[in-house]
Amino acid sequence: MKHRLFLALAIVVLVPLAIAFGVRSTPSAPTPAPSMEISTATSLRSLAQKRGISIGAAVELEPFYNDANYRQVLAREFNTLVPENAFKFQFLHPNPDRYDFSHVDRLVEFAKAHNMQVRGSPLVWHYAQPDWLNQGKFTREELLGILQTHIQTVVGRYRGQVFAWDVVNEALNRDGSLRDTIWLRHIGPEYIDLAFRWAHQADPNARLFYSDYGNDELGRKANAMYTMVSGLLQRGVPIDGVGMQTHKRLGYAPRLNLLSENIGRLEKLGLEVQFTELDITIQDGTGSREERLMKQAQTYRSLLQTCLAFKNCTAFITWGFTDRYTWLGSLTGQLEAPLLFDESYRPKPAYNAIEDVLSSHSGK
Ligand code: G3I
Repeated sequence: MKHRLFLALAIVVLVPLAIAFGVRSTPSAPTPAPSMEISTATSLRSLAQKRGISIGAAVELEPFYNDANYRQVLAREFNTLVPENAFKFQFLHPNPDRYDFSHVDRLVEFAKAHNMQVRGSPLVWHYAQPDWLNQGKFTREELLGILQTHIQTVVGRYRGQVFAWDVVNEALNRDGSLRDTIWLRHIGPEYIDLAFRWAHQADPNARLFYSDYGNDELGRKANAMYTMVSGLLQRGVPIDGVGMQTHKRLGYAPRLNLLSENIGRLEKLGLEVQFTELDITIQDGTGSREERLMKQAQTYRSLLQTCLAFKNCTAFITWGFTDRYTWLGSLTGQLEAPLLFDESYRPKPAYNAIEDVLSSHSGK
């Protein structure tokens, strides 16, 4: 009897008090802003899952650490994340004998907790390299050693945790010639083959990509890339696909027929295609801001439709996801509104277009 009385007292008095004063057994989750109320069931990731495509976004560290809304939308909407900068040589390998994995580790941990895939980018690039590398006077043998150790240390550490790597990034000039980098200058063009082989040794199950910009529609660069990847395949180099970054301005999106032809011929080679760094800025478009946002949505829509029309197009990844944080803003100081969510995390017409395409039944 006494027990029952105590139980009744607890329910009637203590529970409301606990609620009123915020007493909970686990720390409270961040409160979503009203503008972010999108049912998880119809999130992009749940739709993309059904279509068998990775839908992803690049993640910048500052908001990842400091903005709970950012983390929440990221985990709710996307099944794939790409560290926007944390994998770069400059940050990951700041001294010859020191690596800093702390940030990538946090992102990988977050991805695991939210059942997301991690895409790694880039292993070899001409940019974002540390001074010790840029300014060092190395022999060919030393540079081969540096590159092999870097690739195998990084890929080896995240073996089984990073599903795809941009092994070599932006190795081609606009005219299709090989870009002049320390790797080309001191090692020779075979640095590309070697990078793929080393990455494959370190994680035989990871998907390995060559990534570039300006390679999405047929043209000189796409043709040079096609020749390059055909050569890699002929030599038995382990490459699985091609990344098309696709940073675009309104009105300059790839022409769909030329994009389709390009994806189609890569498919015939047995290669995957992933859109890896999509963003579409609106500042150059004509018409009102609303009209430009609608045109932007139309561009996102047609790119995703094109991707879904091909079995080998396996990922649709934007370079960030909210206009609040985009590399473009810091570059030009203008709000170019290139992404799917506005600065307050409200879905834009571009988001609705992608949701709509993923919900429709055509393709794949
Ligand atoms: O975090 C450091 C900070 O510690 C330092 O004090 C400060 C001073 O310069 O720099 C900060 O790093 C900046 C970093 O972004 C993080 O915000 C770098 O300077 C800046 O160069 C870097 O820019 C990135 C750029 O690549 C160069 O690595 C952009 O965020 C990133 O969006 C952009 O991404 C590239 C892809 O990797 C490859 N394709 C093109 C794409 C756009 O340029």
